[in-house]
Amino acid sequence: MEKNKQVIIDSLPEGKLVEGNYRLVESSLPQASSGEVLVKTISFAITAGTRAGLQGSASYAGAPKAGIVMNSTGIGEVVESAEESFPVGSKVLTQTGWQDYSLQKIESLTLMRDDVDPELYLGPLGINGLTAYFGLLEVGDPKSKDTVMVSAAAGSVGHMVGQIAKIKGCHVIGVCGNDDKCNILIEELGFDTALNYKDANFRQNLKDATPNGLDVYFDNTGGMILGSALFRMNTGGRIACCGVVSQYDTSSPEPGPRGIPGLLINNRIKMEGFLVFDFAEKYDHATSEILEWIESGDLKILTDKVEGLEAAPRAFVDLLAGGNIGTRIVRLS
Ligand SMILES: NC(=O)c1ccc[n+]([C@@H]2O[C@H](COP(=O)([O-])OP(=O)(O)OC[C@H]3O[C@@H](n4cnc5c(N)ncnc54)[C@H](OP(=O)(O)O)[C@@H]3O)[C@@H](O)[C@H]2O)c1
Repeated sequence: MEKNKQVIIDSLPEGKLVEGNYRLVESSLPQASSGEVLVKTISFAITAGTRAGLQGSASYAGAPKAGIVMNSTGIGEVVESAEESFPVGSKVLTQTGWQDYSLQKIESLTLMRDDVDPELYLGPLGINGLTAYFGLLEVGDPKSKDTVMVSAAAGSVGHMVGQIAKIKGCHVIGVCGNDDKCNILIEELGFDTALNYKDANFRQNLKDATPNGLDVYFDNTGGMILGSALFRMNTGGRIACCGVVSQYDTSSPEPGPRGIPGLLINNRIKMEGFLVFDFAEKYDHATSEILEWIESGDLKILTDKVEGLEAAPRAFVDLLAGGNIGTRIVRLS
């Protein structure tokens, strides 16, 4: 009889996440009852924000817990169903978690369009694409010719933020953790400048790259990069606080940067946090526009694929160390 392979959170990380925080188990296949379907996972995304969930710093994720299947958004196929709206064979987006099969309530399923590459739902048409879209356009509020900077710029959210800012006519600076990523941002994605934050001269390089200051900073990282950006913000600038990836993979996050609130007051800077779910009513409009940009070639999508459920823990540890380019997707066999 077929078994369900699952990756369980064996223990919560103390300090940095390690592969040993996870354990592979096999259990019996669950059976769908009324209002539920059984979904076979095709692939799932590994995203930085789930590390905040393991740390207890993501309010929407609740308290972190060991002994449960690791959570993730995934795509899958309905393999058992008595529900007319989701018959066997339907391709769906849902919270699959790191496992071969999951039972899902039908209200937690989104039917995917069959004329669109399903893996786009794990990046640009899913949570990370919507985060880039709303965080930049509604919170950062860029105007044509503004200088926009984004951190974790070669990651899933970041590489889309920079390109959307280019679509809006902005001058775009990406900040990331190595020179190869910098080259990709400029040569493949059309960023104007890219800076390596691990370079010993990062602060001076940032100063040199921003002779006209920064109008918008899309902050995926917090920490030293936020601290540096604050001192380059123009009067009336906007900082969209999206995430704090520099502080997730530790049990002792740093305090916030210098200059708050003094710099915010003197330069009338707006610093605003957001959660993508705040914009749920506008998702349909955003996904149509994102799809148009992909089809026109204005938005290029980078994905980084890993094969097999067993590879997921290593792929997550490696992502937190900067090993990914674009959206990291684990494909199940
Ligand atoms: N507000 C919301 O609703 C919302 C929704 C989704 C995601 N998010 C946030 O968006 C951010 C990006 O998530 P993602 O899924 O797209 O991840 P990602 O950018 O694809 O991956 C994380 C990247 O963070 C960088 N990084 C790791 N440690 C760092 C450090 N100490 N300092 C600077 N950069 C570091 C690494 O790239 P380098 O090589 O550049 O170091 C790594 O590739 C996260 O903060 C996440 O929490 C927010």
